[in-house]
This record gives sequence, structure tokens and C-alpha cells, in this order.
Amino acid sequence: MRHPFKALFFVAMFTCCASAQAFDAVAAKALAKSNTCTKCHDPGKEATPFKKIAEKYRNDPQAETKLIKHLTTNPQVTFLDGSKDEHKTVRMTPANDEAQLKNLIQWVLSH
Ligand code: HEC
Repeated sequence: MRHPFKALFFVAMFTCCASAQAFDAVAAKALAKSNTCTKCHDPGKEATPFKKIAEKYRNDPQAETKLIKHLTTNPQVTFLDGSKDEHKTVRMTPANDEAQLKNLIQWVLSH
């Protein structure tokens, strides 16, 4: 007789690895690099590290929508030292390409 937990195990494996494949980390890193995202978002730099941002949005079903807005509308942001500036939009070709934006956001949220 099949053990019910065995089936659960396979479901868990699939969920794990399917989501890990859901974005292209190489493309996301290249885009982040060309936009110098990590100059501000690496640990110890002037903005919140991506790991903390990922934690903040972990249980937020609106995360993707909110972050697309964040990365395309130059919102006012406050740096960790208290100074304020506009957040840059993501430079990419074509401009504001939703697929690339979503890929970048999934990468940020995977930290
Ligand atoms: C000049 C520094 C700087 C650069 C470059 C920069 N950011 Fe930010 N970012 C900030 C600051 C400051 C904030 C707001 C405060 C915080 O989260 O520390 C912020 C916030 C964010 C947030 C969180 C928004 C929220 O609602 O909590 C995300 C996601 C983000 N940035 C992604 C990126 C990505 C992706 C790039 C590259 C395209 C990037 N940032 C480039 C400084 C920067």
C-alpha cells in the first residue's frame, strides 16, 4: 500500500523546485548589476539589504505589484542615514519591460 506521506513528499519537492526555477537568476543579476542596485542594497550599504526587503514582503500577496510600482515611478525613499531622495527606475531594453521587471523582483524576493 502506498504511504500517504510519500505523495506529500513529492508535492513538497515539486513546490520547492518549481518555484526555484520560476525566475532567471543570471538575467536578474545582470540587470541588477547594470543598474547598480547592490551598491545601495548590499548588507552594510546605504539602503535596506535585499534579504530584509524579501522578509518584509514574504507573506504579502501584493509584493510583485507594489514593487513594480516602486521600481517604475521614482518614489521618494529614505536612506538608512535619514536622507531622502528619489528611487531610480530600472534602466532596461525595452523600457519598463514587465517580464524583466518581474524577473528582477522575484530575484530580490528570493534573498
Ligand atoms: C542610490 C541607492 C539605491 C539604488 C541604486 C537602488 N536603491 Fe532600492 N532603495 C533605496 C532606498 C534608500 C530605499 C528605501 C529605504 C530602504 O528600503 O532602505 C530603497 C528601496 C527599495 C526596495 C523596497 C521597497 C519597499 O517597499 O520596501 C526595493 C525592492 C528596491 N529598493 C529595489 C531596488 C532595485 C531592484 C534596484 C536596482 C534597479 C535598486 N533598488 C537600486 C536605495 C537604492
